[in-house]
Amino acid sequence: MGNIKNTKIIINGKKRLAGRVRIGGAKNAALPELSAVLLSKGPFCFHDVPEVEDLKVMFQALSNLGAEGNFISNTVHISLPEIKSALVPREIVETSRASILILGPLVARNGYAKVSKPGGCPIGERKINYHLAGLEKMGVEITEDHDHIIAVAHKPLKAIDYSFPSKSVTGTENLIMAAALAEGTTILRNCALEPEVGDLIDLLVKMGAGIEGKNTETISIKGQSSLTGTHHRVIPDRIEMGTYVIAGCLEDNEIIVENTDPDYIRSLLDILNQSGLHTETGNNWIKAHGNHSFKPAAVETEPFPGFPTDLQAQLTTFLTQAEGASRIKENIFNNRFQHCKELNKMGAHIEVDGDVSIIHGKSLLHGTHIHATDLRASAALILGGLIAQGQTVMENAFQLLRGYENMPGKLGDLGADVKLIED
Ligand code: EPU
Repeated sequence: MGNIKNTKIIINGKKRLAGRVRIGGAKNAALPELSAVLLSKGPFCFHDVPEVEDLKVMFQALSNLGAEGNFISNTVHISLPEIKSALVPREIVETSRASILILGPLVARNGYAKVSKPGGCPIGERKINYHLAGLEKMGVEITEDHDHIIAVAHKPLKAIDYSFPSKSVTGTENLIMAAALAEGTTILRNCALEPEVGDLIDLLVKMGAGIEGKNTETISIKGQSSLTGTHHRVIPDRIEMGTYVIAGCLEDNEIIVENTDPDYIRSLLDILNQSGLHTETGNNWIKAHGNHSFKPAAVETEPFPGFPTDLQAQLTTFLTQAEGASRIKENIFNNRFQHCKELNKMGAHIEVDGDVSIIHGKSLLHGTHIHATDLRASAALILGGLIAQGQTVMENAFQLLRGYENMPGKLGDLGADVKLIED
């Protein structure tokens, strides 16, 4: 493979999409689940691990810490008989902030962790104060130098009763993992309800952790002196699912999205249905039909089960095709409207004021040169390119590769003309 950091995507738009697409495992479930490997010697076998850059980086980080194994054909075989290094270096945190998920389990097992500070984030401020506050309550001494967070503890960590001031997905995951090796029963309150947290709990229970309260805001974790390896299949990726459902609802497309759980994206399906789109659902599939004329929407991003911030950009592209003005309020991150400027270059008419965007539809989009600012923005711009007249060239497609598995290939199988070009 060439230099993936200099990758672009070229789309020749206006091709009808039809057929079936299989959704892969959830990036944001597989990331904490691979971190959980740190809690045990293993061995582990994970299936349906998406082959995306963020997961490759996580696998590399674990290898640096002493893990042995391989990551081939969506399967990770891994064990960690001995922690050989407690350092997560800069190169790892540069591309994926999820490396913060290593902190809790590493200090819980090893009593020491030194993790490079997560760098700036294109979608806005992403604090980790809840992660650190919870670990400190567990007896971990946290210090920082210019580049690192350094965590030191006497093992085992102490069980705590901690209430998250507001919901945090990776904060919940980090503290559940640390508590799984703590002495006593930890109670975590105001926990995130995202399905990825539930899937992590399923994994930890198979490893021997005593956890109650899955899919509720209050989770209790009875710490164990040791945990074992296990087999686990990662749940489907609800953001990939939502992205293909939105693609299916555009123009006269018709896409059957397979390996899904419609309940994971009920908030999106409700918005689409209220706009006049028709989706059909079964146990593990969603059928999305396009419609050339549909109503605008008013949407706010919220923690699960509300409408996810990770689908906000893709919904924006969709709403450029609504008959009238839509409004989106972004409540989770403070700089997650960068796709709007790029969509405007394609002929959209979107105004952004602070945490609100107003999308004036219906706009005829045309192909042009655009720049992917972040992962979900890149998916939104590809959706734009699919419905645009002419050719779209999206620079910085590395962002897409961080979190979407083989999107050009999957879209190509549905009839799109999308090419990934490596410099
Ligand atoms: N927050 C704090 N303090 C904390 C933690 C969070 O104030 O200690 C705030 C954040 O600043 C933010 C809000 O709480 O305003 C929510 O942040 P959260 O911690 O829930 O986000 P995260 O765990 O860092 C995960 C996903 C993101 C997704 C968010 C929200 C992973 C690896 N990442 O991030 O995924 O947007 O939850 O659902 O699970 C993506 O996949 O594109 C992505 C960005």
